[in-house]
Amino acid sequence: MKLTAKELKKDFPRASKGSSYFTAVYPLDFTLRSGEMIEITGRSGSGKSTLLNMFSGMLTPTSGKVFLDETDLYALDEKALSRLRNEKIGLIPQGHTALLSLTVLENVLLPSVLYSKEQPPQEKAKELLEKVGIADLMNARPNELSGGELRRMAVARAMLMNPGVLLADEPTAGLDTENILAVLGLLRKAADEGTAVLLVTHENEAARFADQVLTMDAGKVSE
Ligand SMILES: Nc1ncnc2c1ncn2[C@@H]1O[C@H](COP(=O)(O)OP(=O)(O)O)[C@@H](O)[C@H]1O
Ligand SMILES: [Mg+2]
Repeated sequence: MKLTAKELKKDFPRASKGSSYFTAVYPLDFTLRSGEMIEITGRSGSGKSTLLNMFSGMLTPTSGKVFLDETDLYALDEKALSRLRNEKIGLIPQGHTALLSLTVLENVLLPSVLYSKEQPPQEKAKELLEKVGIADLMNARPNELSGGELRRMAVARAMLMNPGVLLADEPTAGLDTENILAVLGLLRKAADEGTAVLLVTHENEAARFADQVLTMDAGKVSE
């Protein structure tokens, strides 16, 4: 699966330098291919999350396009886009997104119950929890988990539907070295197994896991 951006741009309404909006992402072309892991680094406020959210179908661009293979994401209606996102795009958002009233296993199974009437893939979810090293916690509630364990749960959830594209926004923020390496290793493994992986991070350790490291500064991406 391939993610392509063409002339992708995002303005936010906000007074700046005599204008009524400011540009968070300047027009950008980008390609992320199956089997590849690209890292985007850069200081806080440089536009990394804005870019990732446009790639994920969550944030409508001001102009330009995002294609998943041949499909123009923002040409789809709301319903078709949600469904496509759910099936094809694994998103590990910034911050915590666990539903506290559900168990860890139920949190991981969430993407499978949104659109499907079929039985949730319990075995697959357990396998993923095994893979990320928290299978023993599957019946716990998220508030019983450490930061590292919650992150690993988010990775498992993002991978449940076998997405062609995996987008991770600072997935190692606030983790200790051991957990940082565990999460980065999982993303690398997903790429090696054919997923197209984009990693947004401040983490110095990440570069050696990635095929390519890009830097974002004030809305512009460079090598
Ligand atoms: N929904 C929004 N409305 C207005 N400004 C926003 C919004 N989201 C992000 N921004 C601004 O866009 C810039 C880039 O933000 P962001 O993409 O979150 O940066 P990063 O992820 O690199 O820290 C920041 O100046 C931020 O304040
Ligand atoms: Mg961010």
